[in-house]
Amino acid sequence: MKDFVFSYPTKVYFGVGAAKGALETELDKVGKNVMLAYGGGSVKKSGIYDELMEVLHKKGKTVYEFSGIMSNPTYAKVQEGAAIAKNNAVDFILAVGGGSVIDCCKVVAAQVKTEEDIWKLEFVDRKLPTDALPMGAVVTVSGTGSEMNSGAVITNEELKLKVGMLGAYNTFAVLDPSYTLTVPFKQVISGAFDTLSHCMETYFGSPLESFISDEINEAVIKNTIKNIRATIADPQDIVPRSELMWTSAMAENGILKIGKVTDFQAHQIEHQLGAYTDCNHGQGLAVIHPVLYRHLYTSAPAKFARFATEVWGVDSNGKTEEQLAAEGVERLADFIKEIGLPTTFREMGITDNSCFKAVADSCNITAGCCKQLTREEILDILNECY
Ligand code: NZQ
Ligand code: ZN
Repeated sequence: MKDFVFSYPTKVYFGVGAAKGALETELDKVGKNVMLAYGGGSVKKSGIYDELMEVLHKKGKTVYEFSGIMSNPTYAKVQEGAAIAKNNAVDFILAVGGGSVIDCCKVVAAQVKTEEDIWKLEFVDRKLPTDALPMGAVVTVSGTGSEMNSGAVITNEELKLKVGMLGAYNTFAVLDPSYTLTVPFKQVISGAFDTLSHCMETYFGSPLESFISDEINEAVIKNTIKNIRATIADPQDIVPRSELMWTSAMAENGILKIGKVTDFQAHQIEHQLGAYTDCNHGQGLAVIHPVLYRHLYTSAPAKFARFATEVWGVDSNGKTEEQLAAEGVERLADFIKEIGLPTTFREMGITDNSCFKAVADSCNITAGCCKQLTREEILDILNECY
């Protein structure tokens, strides 16, 4: 296990109806000017906007709205939010939505505190933001786990790059599973697959041999699989929704990563594909994972065999380690089909593969869980996904 330091800055308020009490407590700690950030309008249809506004007004806050944050948020949108916050001397940002709204606001919070362009700061000067406006999140769709980390995935449309940036941590996050009941069902499932992906990208990180983080990870993976099935069986059942909301946070709050270097190669490929196609994050991952793992499992047969037996319950009797490893990858592929996620890019609506070479040439290559990919192999993977 690698050495580590662990501390946690985000206070989580979990449960049906949690927002009111959480905001009543937390808003007393922040200044008068609050920027309320949200996406394309689901918060208004669901009534969450009215519910939060009531508390904001009760607490005497002046509210500035930052709306229309799109899925796969752009750097231009970050700058729009930063301008609203700066021009109105905003004291606190309340991000209401999923990964896209929360990510956008994390970088807005950091941009507000520096005169330098934050993209230049992070990617040209190679510095980290040192200060940020305080912010909190009300999660309305789960899967990314963005509420409990300081990472943000932002698309720079000019540079054709979708990459991870560092921004603010939420000082608090409200996780009310009943909010997710109005999320389009396709998004519920692709979000839950994103959680699984985060678990796997960590599980197959380095070192590969197992210790406590991997054993907790197996529990989170199995729980996510079980509760995806339960949610499909009864979409209105709040119990599996609650479990999925917490596994989403667990997968990205750092606990599973303790003592490990994560892989996240599937994410790097999907993010860059997103820069060119604006595709859905969880769906892209669902297509990429089995194809990627077919390229990898022979380089780490013991870990993939463990994935087969511990996660998928594959019977090891009479099988070689490599056979088991291959079966684990195919069980994952079968599960993706079973839950109705796409298995090819074409099924996701990507009908032109002319960008694949550019995606392969511009995507980040990680150290690799068991084998470092070449750009040629990434291009092969993209074509096999098509
Ligand atoms: O925009 P609105 O109208 O709110 O609609 C949203 C959006 O269309 C809708 N929605 C959200 N809550 C709803 C709802 N619809 C009905 N009822 C509700 N309660 O859901 C749609 C998807 O929202 P979005 O935030 O885009 O989805 P998600 O949470 O999957 O976030 C995706 C973004 O997060 C990044 C992805 O790359 C992508 O850009 N990620 C962020 C991570 C992080 N910071 O840790 C990790 C992830 O790996 C991921 O890369
Ligand atoms: Zn993800």
